Amino acid sequence: MAWGVLRLVLQLLPAALGDAGGEVDEEVRGAMSTFCPHLDEIPDMFTTFWQRLHSAVLQLEREFALDAQAPGYEIRALCVQLAFLRSIVKGQAGLPFPQAVNSCPTLMAIYFEWASGLAERAHQPRRARALMQLGAPLQLMALSRAMMRPGESKQVKDTQSTVSTQYAEKLQKLKGTAPPSVPWLRSKPGSRISRVAVRSLCDANYQGGNLENGTFNVTEKNHRSYAEKWGYDYEMLFRSPLSDQEPQFGKLQVAIDLLGSDDPPDYFFWLDCDALVTNRSISLEDLLETYQLHAAHFVVAEEVSGINSGIFLVKGGAERHGLRFLRAAMTSDWRFVWDQTMLLDQMARDSDLYADDMCYQWRTTGASHDFDWAPHFGVVPQQALNLYGQGSALQWGASAWQRGDFILHLAGCPLVELPCLQAFEEIAQWVEESH
Ligand SMILES: *[C@@H]1O[C@H](CO)[C@@H](O)[C@H](O)[C@H]1NC(C)=O
Ligand SMILES: *[C@@H]1O[C@H](CO)[C@@H](O)[C@H](O)[C@H]1NC(C)=O
Ligand SMILES: *[C@@H]1O[C@H](CO)[C@@H](O)[C@H](O)[C@H]1NC(C)=O
Repeated sequence: MAWGVLRLVLQLLPAALGDAGGEVDEEVRGAMSTFCPHLDEIPDMFTTFWQRLHSAVLQLEREFALDAQAPGYEIRALCVQLAFLRSIVKGQAGLPFPQAVNSCPTLMAIYFEWASGLAERAHQPRRARALMQLGAPLQLMALSRAMMRPGESKQVKDTQSTVSTQYAEKLQKLKGTAPPSVPWLRSKPGSRISRVAVRSLCDANYQGGNLENGTFNVTEKNHRSYAEKWGYDYEMLFRSPLSDQEPQFGKLQVAIDLLGSDDPPDYFFWLDCDALVTNRSISLEDLLETYQLHAAHFVVAEEVSGINSGIFLVKGGAERHGLRFLRAAMTSDWRFVWDQTMLLDQMARDSDLYADDMCYQWRTTGASHDFDWAPHFGVVPQQALNLYGQGSALQWGASAWQRGDFILHLAGCPLVELPCLQAFEEIAQWVEESH
């Protein structure tokens, strides 16, 4: 049975590190040279790690194939694979997860894709989708490396773009389970939140940052006008509190400092520097009402390939609801796409994405269920608070901003580039004129 194999495989992995001897399967060698073509440039322990890991993967696949006619096979295979994936993510397979990813992002993303396929077969489309979203940043890392690396061979580039295209197509195919956008509702007069803190961070000083040498008067005026209209407190920060790291890492700290203070606001609302509130008549109370988010501690929009943390809302107050989550996310080692992947990783852990609880329940009672984000998360469609410019939306298969929408976020269109800045300023001007 696959459980026995899994246990064996997991015991083998850490013990095997440092022991480069032994036979390596042809199939493993093939996968290494196709998907991890540059392992020979880093210490041997990485090659050993991947050979062992991938041998274990192939062994599991063979077991699954033998078992495929047995009743309950789909759930069993899913649970075994997710236990395997979880041990890799937790760094229990012989290398800390970031190092494993860094040494071969392509193959790690493929493992998430494999898990997603098993979830689909087990009739858990929401789990399938979220697993693909977790693997998506690793996949993007692999693609950008293959394309940017000086002198990279055509063969490596072609292989990676095939893998990436398939990955993107699967994500598109799974988007049917995404939360739908709904028409705006007005909140009831008595439901005003008494204290909201709105913050943004525009750091022009960070060298090589996408805001280097920028001026942010347009952003500041836009954010401030919105906050003033609804009586929210607003401040634009020009320096990240974590001065030794890229500014993107600072935003969770800004939220944590405020929500952890002696006198925390009821809600904390984050707007990236390249975001504009384009419909001031929509309040945060309306957002809570429209998408039924009163119980959520952390609200963020998602698109096909995952959440986007450019705009988010955190519940504060004396219970410090959202603070616990943010503090946990700060400890995440998923720093691949700054705070965004750290948040996603923590959301996955809090929501049993790797199905520890679901599988335990299945083994003890025979009942299984699909994945849902934990009730303290409000995962909303882009229309709720984070629509992209035309170009990025088209490129990413995501939703584009239109006049009348609540918030525009020029993700993927850096304000240091003139066409992006012009579009941003034109729309900001239009907002002033239309209100
Ligand atoms: C920002 O300004 C500094 C100092 O004037 C300059 O050296 C640097 O090249 C500028 N960076 C960009 C992206 O314009
Ligand atoms: C931006 O605003 C500051 C004061 O808030 C002002 O000194 C500066 O001239 C403004 N810059 C532009 C480009 O409007
Ligand atoms: C803002 O949104 C509301 C609700 O959808 C809509 O009725 C209104 O026309 C929008 N306002 C602007 C300025 O686009």
